[in-house]
Amino acid sequence: MDKIIIHGGKRLEGDVRISGSKNAALPVIVSSLLTDGWNIIHNVPDLADIRTIKRLLSGFGAEVEGGKTLRVNAGGITSCEAPYDLVRTMRASILVLGPLVARMGRARVSLPGGCAIGARPVNLHLKALQAMGAEIDLRDGYVEARASRLKGAKIYFDISTVTGTENIMMAASLAEGTTILENAAREPEVVNLADVLKGMGAKIRGAGTEVIEIEGAKTLRPVEAGIIPDRIEAGTYMIAAGLTGGDVNILGCRPDHLDAVTTGLKETGMGIIPIDGGLRVVGSRDVTSVDVKTLPYPGFPTDLQAQMMVLMSIGGGVSVIKETVFENRFMHVNELTRMGADITVDGNSAIVRGVSGLRGAPVMATDLRASASLILAGLVAEGTTGISRIYHIDRGYEHIEKKLSSIGADVRRVKG
Ligand code: EPZ
Repeated sequence: MDKIIIHGGKRLEGDVRISGSKNAALPVIVSSLLTDGWNIIHNVPDLADIRTIKRLLSGFGAEVEGGKTLRVNAGGITSCEAPYDLVRTMRASILVLGPLVARMGRARVSLPGGCAIGARPVNLHLKALQAMGAEIDLRDGYVEARASRLKGAKIYFDISTVTGTENIMMAASLAEGTTILENAAREPEVVNLADVLKGMGAKIRGAGTEVIEIEGAKTLRPVEAGIIPDRIEAGTYMIAAGLTGGDVNILGCRPDHLDAVTTGLKETGMGIIPIDGGLRVVGSRDVTSVDVKTLPYPGFPTDLQAQMMVLMSIGGGVSVIKETVFENRFMHVNELTRMGADITVDGNSAIVRGVSGLRGAPVMATDLRASASLILAGLVAEGTTGISRIYHIDRGYEHIEKKLSSIGADVRRVKG
């Protein structure tokens, strides 16, 4: 298995361009299932998860062509089964459930199973589809769903679930009547999907707020759409600049999607200046320790918690990081501790006492964002860091070692 080797201590400077958002591209690509004809999707990132969703749609019989500009035609789908061997590699596969039931009247989707950061059930997705008239059975580890035609319903999500909101918004776009989603997720990726569905002919109001109203259509037409920049990738590079006392232009990002991140990073002493086409990020010599609490958007994103922990590990004081979204998202703590960080986990809080510096070490990635935090730690650590199981990183960061090298990092991928 490949490894990433980093020689730390290099100051990052220059321009880095942000790719399309993984978490926006996945639901937008899946939404092609709702239409009969060629959908054209621009700014799709080159990631393992994107290759997985393309394989999934091809398995249904959809035609899928292209890369950064993707063309998908689901006019001739014949199968409605999402197999375990694909779903287990990417939980977001559950996003096909709603569109398949809405368009084809049936679906058989493997239950995703747990993952490193938590049980991550899909009960809210299923409960909402049942409220819309779907018959749901759980059999042999699969969800089997059937509905002659979904009906609009009023749905309250006990937890504001991102893919739950996206799944049901897609299903509701072809349902009979109006669906109201309350306590809906407000993420920019939800808004990107809503814009695409509107382009297909669905009538959607309130995307980006906690109440979304969808008036279903009898059929939806294929569209040409664009994917928003990846705010989590952008935040990761902002923190990399801060960690190394660097001066980096984060180009192609959407600063308006990063308010909580920008506010938090400024409190640590970083300079964050809006520039043409993005943000200029300047690291400070001394990092101020701040407390962090992850929250659904527009709060501080859970997907940047691990990366922020690295910055706090070299802070000048003590930082309390509270993870409120997932129940087990501190898998990176043990590895960071091995690099000299001083972190104590207490339930869903981590107490991070700043140390003078980290030391390179062989470490192992456990999940996508934890692997990003290990790379960040390697950038600032003294000596060499070798990161194994980097297939995790390839799921969500496009060409990360090339992008980091282009701004001065000493990082390379070695075939394992
Ligand atoms: C999306 O996951 C993202 N993935 C995650 O990004 C992100 O961390 C998460 O939202 C939170 O922002 C994609 O968009 C593909 P949730 P999702 O449903 O939708 C509980 C990354 O690194 N819940 O918003 O799966 C759940 O267990 C990934 O790119 C239920 O209990 O997350 C969690 O505690 C990691 N029942 C909370 O809600 C349900 O039916 C929020 O989960 C659904 C969710």
